[in-house]
Order: sequence, then structure tokens, then C-alpha cells
Amino acid sequence: MKQLWIDCDPGHDDALALLTSIAHPEQLSILGVSTIGGNQTLEKVTKNAQNVLAFVNAEIPLVKGEEGPLVKPLSTAAEAHGDSGMDGPYFGENTYPLVKESFLHYMYKTISAASEKVILVCLGPLTNIALMLKTFPDIREKIEYISLMGGGITHGNITPLAEFNIYVDPEAAQIVFRSGLPIVMSGLDVTEKAEITVEEIQRLKGKGKVSNLAYELLSFYNHSGRQFGFVNSPIHDLCAVAYILQPDMFEGAPHTVEVITDDGLARGLTFADKRTNVTMVKNTFVLDEVNREAFVQLLIQSLEILDNK
Ligand code: RIB
Ligand code: CA
Repeated sequence: MKQLWIDCDPGHDDALALLTSIAHPEQLSILGVSTIGGNQTLEKVTKNAQNVLAFVNAEIPLVKGEEGPLVKPLSTAAEAHGDSGMDGPYFGENTYPLVKESFLHYMYKTISAASEKVILVCLGPLTNIALMLKTFPDIREKIEYISLMGGGITHGNITPLAEFNIYVDPEAAQIVFRSGLPIVMSGLDVTEKAEITVEEIQRLKGKGKVSNLAYELLSFYNHSGRQFGFVNSPIHDLCAVAYILQPDMFEGAPHTVEVITDDGLARGLTFADKRTNVTMVKNTFVLDEVNREAFVQLLIQSLEILDNK
């Protein structure tokens, strides 16, 4: 049994990562979910997280995190995820409860009390994680590793050089990558290969309540991806959960990853320092290959499990 804390900014792919992690209670125990301003404002991504958790009758503590980055103003991604941050499905109203306590104290208290070391799953800008590491350094002893979607060694998406999650809060990303904690980085090098085809999306329609929700999410996401030149849909955030469930479907290599934090053209660029300097701690396992069929099959099977619950 692996214990997880999931930090996210739903977001279509965040939602699919959440659903997949919920579908495997025999392997994954989700201690809590926190939200972070990113794809949309904190209010909107938190509402989206409530909608997803309520949709599958989850009973997982949900806490609002930071409004935005440590230093920079918040950049959102309505062009990719729509005005709500998760356009497509209609959820209606729900009253999924929010933890009243501050996320920092709640997250620290919960992870500290965990019976085993916890895996941090980071699916948005890294603001919340950086704040926790800085505020409560002793929390490091309770973290097994960080599985994050973010960055890219060869290219970007929000700019030619930077991936969105890192671009939004590069200072937070620098704190996390330099923490020395073990990190598994699902950057664009692998997530853009972790794509679902239009035909595979179509097969989800009407299959079951949760499969159909995924169909509605992916239909919007696929359409919006066309503006960026995508025909199929990379499910970026799902890689960070799929790695925990089935690491063998991925390949990668250890690197020392650094982040550019200035406001120039390279803001948010993540690069692998490949010098042979022995003092460099290669703490980040950068994924660069995925078995796409196994990846999509994991999603489909996870949705089927939730359909039949
Ligand atoms: O660049 C992809 C990342 O940005 C994903 O986490 C997606 O949800 C958006 O937040
Ligand atoms: Ca995300």
C-alpha cells in the first residue's frame, strides 16, 4: 500500500489522474488532495476538484492551497482548459467539503502522522510543495519521493523553452528540484508520448458513468489541443500517477535538473546538468519513454473499475 498526497490544478488531465488514483484503493491510499492556482484561479480549480471527488463519492480530505506563485503573478491556461478550467462536462452543484484548516498545517500534520513515508504527487505549479518544504523542513523525513508532472529537457509548451507548471512558478520549482529529495519527473519528453487517440476517446462514450465523464473531458481537451497542433491528446498529469502504479511502463535516466527563474525568454526552462562533476546529486529520474498502449489501458481499466463501483 502506497500513501499519497496529491497537489493539483484541475484541469482535464489532473481530473483523469485523480480518478485513476482513486480507482486503485488496494494499492494507493490518498491521504489528502490540495489545490493550487494554475490552469485556472484557485477558486475554479478547487471547484473542479470538488466536482471530480463528488462525482465518484470519494471521501478524501480536500484543502485549498495557494492562490498563486511565490513571486510571479499567476498565469492561467484558459486557452487549453476553458474558462472553468475543466470545460466540457456539466456537474451541477455539489457540497463536497473543504478542510477548514490552512493547507500548510493540514498537509504537514497529515503527512507527519502517516504510518509510512508518503509519495507527493504534484500535478500543477509547485508553490504548495515549496512552501511546505521551506516551512517544515523536517517533513522531508516523511517523503518517499515526489512524482511530478512538469518541465521538459528538450522543449516547452507554454513557451518554446518552458512547460506550464514550471513556468507559472519557477522559484517554487527551483526549491523543489534543489531539495535533494528523490523526484520522478514526468516532463513533456514523456508526457507528449503518453497520448490517447481520438478513436480511444470515442470508445469511452456511454460506456459507464465515469468512462463517459472521461469521454466528455477528453472530447473538450482533444478539441482544444488542436490549436496547439495535437491530433491525439497527451494526458500529461496521468503519467505522474501511472508511474506509481506501473513504473515498468516507463523508461528514464537520473539527472540533476535546474530551473531558470529570471523573467527572460528562458523563464521556467528545466535543464539537465550533465557535467560529470561528482558533487552533483542526480536526484531527479527524468522519464523519456512510455508504453503508450499500457498507459491508455491503465486509464480505461481504472475508469471501468469506477463505472462498476
Ligand atoms: O503542461 C501540462 C501541465 O499544465 C498539466 O499539469 C496541465 O494540467 C497543466 O497544468
Ligand atoms: Ca495540472
